[in-house]
Formats: sequence, C-alpha cells, structure tokens
Amino acid sequence: MHHIPYGYCYRCPYNLTYPKCKIYCITYIEEELFKKDIPPDEVCAFIVEPIQGEGGYIVPPPEYHPMLKKLAKKNGILYIADEVQAGMGRTGKMFAIEHWSVEPDIICLAKGIASGLPLGAMIARSKLMVWGKGAHASTLGGNPLSCRASLKTIELLQKKYINNAAKVGAYMINRLKAMQEKSQVIGDVRGKGLMIAAEIVKNKKTKTKVPEIRETIIQKCFKKGLLLLGCGDTAFDSAYY
Ligand SMILES: Cc1ncc(COP(=O)(O)O)c(C=O)c1O
Repeated sequence: MHHIPYGYCYRCPYNLTYPKCKIYCITYIEEELFKKDIPPDEVCAFIVEPIQGEGGYIVPPPEYHPMLKKLAKKNGILYIADEVQAGMGRTGKMFAIEHWSVEPDIICLAKGIASGLPLGAMIARSKLMVWGKGAHASTLGGNPLSCRASLKTIELLQKKYINNAAKVGAYMINRLKAMQEKSQVIGDVRGKGLMIAAEIVKNKKTKTKVPEIRETIIQKCFKKGLLLLGCGDTAFDSAYY
C-alpha cells in the first residue's frame, strides 16, 4: 500500500500554489509514481476520503476527485470513496463525493449511518458484489436494531437533516470566515455543510502550527457547552460523535 499526500492547498505537500500547481498532487501519481515506483497495472484501487477527516478536515480543490477518477478509469483501477466520516448527510449531500460529481465504484460507510448504533456498510456496483462462498463473513453483521436505526436515520436525513446541514453549515462557515478576518490565529476556515474546520496558526503569514492554542480553544468551548474535536496537527472541527 502506498500513501499519497492529499490535496491540501493551505499547506501544499509539494510547496506549490493552487491553481498554478495544475493539481500536481494528482499528476504526480501518473508522472512519478506510476513511472518510477508502482506500475498502474499493479494497482487494484485508489482509496480516498472525499474530504479528509482525521487528517484535518481538508477539502481538496474542485479538480482533485474528477482527475483522480479519470486516472482510475484510464488504468482500470477501482475508485473507493471512504465516506465513513464525510458521508450520510454531514456535508449537505448524502455522500460527500457528490460535491465533485464523481461516481465511485465502491463507497464505505459507518459512523452517521445509524445515528451512533454500531453499523458499517460497503456499497458497490453489482458486478463487484459477486463473491465466492465464504469470502465475506461478520460475527456482528446485520444487527437488526442497528439496521432499523439506520433506516430511520436515512429517512430523517432525506426529509430534513441533509438540507439542514447545508443551510446551517453555510451560515457557520460565513461566521467563522468573518471571525478569521479579525483573528490573528485562525489561518484557514474550510468545509462543506457541517463538516467544517478552522486551522489555528501562530501567524497567518508563516502559518506556524500551534496545537496548544487549538487545545485551549477546545477546552474553553467545552466549558461553554460546545463540543469541538482536534483534527490534523492544528485544526479543530465540530465534534461528530
Ligand atoms: C474516514 C474514516 N475511515 C474509516 C474509519 C474507521 O471506521 P470504522 O471504525 O468503522 O472501521 C474512520 C474512523 O474514524 C474514518 O474517519
């Protein structure tokens, strides 16, 4: 397995600037990785979060997923969207990858799928679901209570909560961006729907990371009844549990 740096424009892993970079984080795969390290015909799948969660709530640029999907298709590589954190309405769409109009071959889901009851799901094209006998088993799979909770969750999401996430999220991003203008320490505000993060820096120019300030903010908010969670090295997001 190869880990590839994400499309993190605020701190470009290649020290480039969007859009001049021409999305090097993707072209790198074809131009460098496939040529020098791992031939594409040895690659089974790209596994990617539509929006990176624990890594820092990172929203990649608009070209990122379409380019990755194109590269996958060209080389017969499966495109697996890990929507465990970003899926189930959190971003203002049922699946976060819909923001990029990309259709994955496989979607992985969990967390929000059953409002906290233990459940995970793998959704795939039917031709990928023809497995040999015994290829898939799970001690606790298909728990009826979790499945019932999930069906109700999906109903409520479709009725109102997905729209709510889009609406309240847009409001929250605007307010955080207004705070960012006045603040010395909010370096970046990013997100979609209610999957939002603020990245804390010592200095907006140097972007020096200061996890200590992030921790202080999280603790102060907690004392006022607002749950936040650290993500990445120096960002926090609205808690999702
Ligand atoms: C994006 C993402 N994928 C996968 C997982 C792991 O999910 P699970 O605990 O359901 O295996 C997590 C957990 O935080 C996650 O955030």
